[in-house]
Amino acid sequence: MGNNEIVLGKALGCKQEPLIVMPIDILFRHILIVGATGSGKTRTTAFIINSLQHAYPHKYRIIILDWHGEYRSLLKKHVCVDPYNAPINIVDIKTLSWIETLYDVLGLTDPQAYVLQKIIEKSNIASSIDIRKLYRLIEEMDTENAKWLREVKYALLRRLAPLVYGDNYRLFAGTKDFLKLFKNRTTYVVDLSMIRETRIKRIYATFIIRYVFDYALRSSMHDTILVIEEAHNLMKNSSSLEIITRMLSEIRKFGVGVIVVSQSPSGLSDDIMKNTASKIIHSIKSSVDLEIISRSLVLDREIIGVIPYLEPGEAVVTLPNYKKPLLVKIGDLPEKL
Ligand SMILES: Nc1ncnc2c1ncn2[C@@H]1O[C@H](COP(=O)(O)OP(=O)(O)OP(=O)(O)O)[C@@H](O)[C@H]1O
Ligand SMILES: [Mg+2]
Repeated sequence: MGNNEIVLGKALGCKQEPLIVMPIDILFRHILIVGATGSGKTRTTAFIINSLQHAYPHKYRIIILDWHGEYRSLLKKHVCVDPYNAPINIVDIKTLSWIETLYDVLGLTDPQAYVLQKIIEKSNIASSIDIRKLYRLIEEMDTENAKWLREVKYALLRRLAPLVYGDNYRLFAGTKDFLKLFKNRTTYVVDLSMIRETRIKRIYATFIIRYVFDYALRSSMHDTILVIEEAHNLMKNSSSLEIITRMLSEIRKFGVGVIVVSQSPSGLSDDIMKNTASKIIHSIKSSVDLEIISRSLVLDREIIGVIPYLEPGEAVVTLPNYKKPLLVKIGDLPEKL
């Protein structure tokens, strides 16, 4: 190892060059890891992160959006982030992009988004407003003379209520600068499995992605790796899909690498395929998914034929530093971490 690369695994059925290496800089051109459930995606991701940490202990900030809460037991060194202790502030009045994100994750209508924007513009508030204050401002809105506005007001209140009450508010009551939550060059495992409601989990994760993107564009997140586990769960709303797609194409020059992990290539867009320089394809059985992979990667029939029969931890890998797709047994984690 060394020389700015990590070992990914061993080539299968090939005597020369048994060790397959991954130069660090290609991590920043993004990786897509796909495969059926149980095919080894999470362990492969953990293997990459552990290798990176081992080779460069304090160099990278790694943020893992851990959908099922699996990484704690797979990573050597990490900081576990309980989302309820890491509240984010959805309402960032410095930009209006949060309205766009809410528009998508909550399925707002145009009039609802418009009214939100107007409330923010009119209210003249300094920098501190959170989702609950915003809720109060909507409640205080005078709608006496306009029936349509009254309807919009109550619809908005209904949509925002799940984010404002009970335990959920603890996720969105943040006032701190978001970056302070992830300020060190270490691995942060954001344990999303602690959030029971899938919809809320999705909203929380989407806003983290949004913030990483916003901060990266302001160029304050160099040497960051963001792992998006079970990405297909997030892609169900178009806002995350759009942010992730834009992120992949724009963020590279800002020193942020994204690892997209998904069991469903059919749920990912062509842009995501295009904008990830490396692909790690574990076993896929579904013919629809196989078709998508073979179409977007232009793989030989022969290698496509192997994909359904790969064992857990084996993968077809395309890396920019190798000319051809490779059959790789990904390195496994030690029994004891
Ligand atoms: N590199 C490997 N070497 C040996 N065995 C492996 C390897 N990777 C995975 N496995 C085996 O496969 C099992 C499933 O792996 P993993 O949880 O990573 O799959 P997954 O694709 O993330 O599944 P899911 O879609 O359910 O999240 C592991 O518990 C392990 O037994
Ligand atoms: Mg997994």
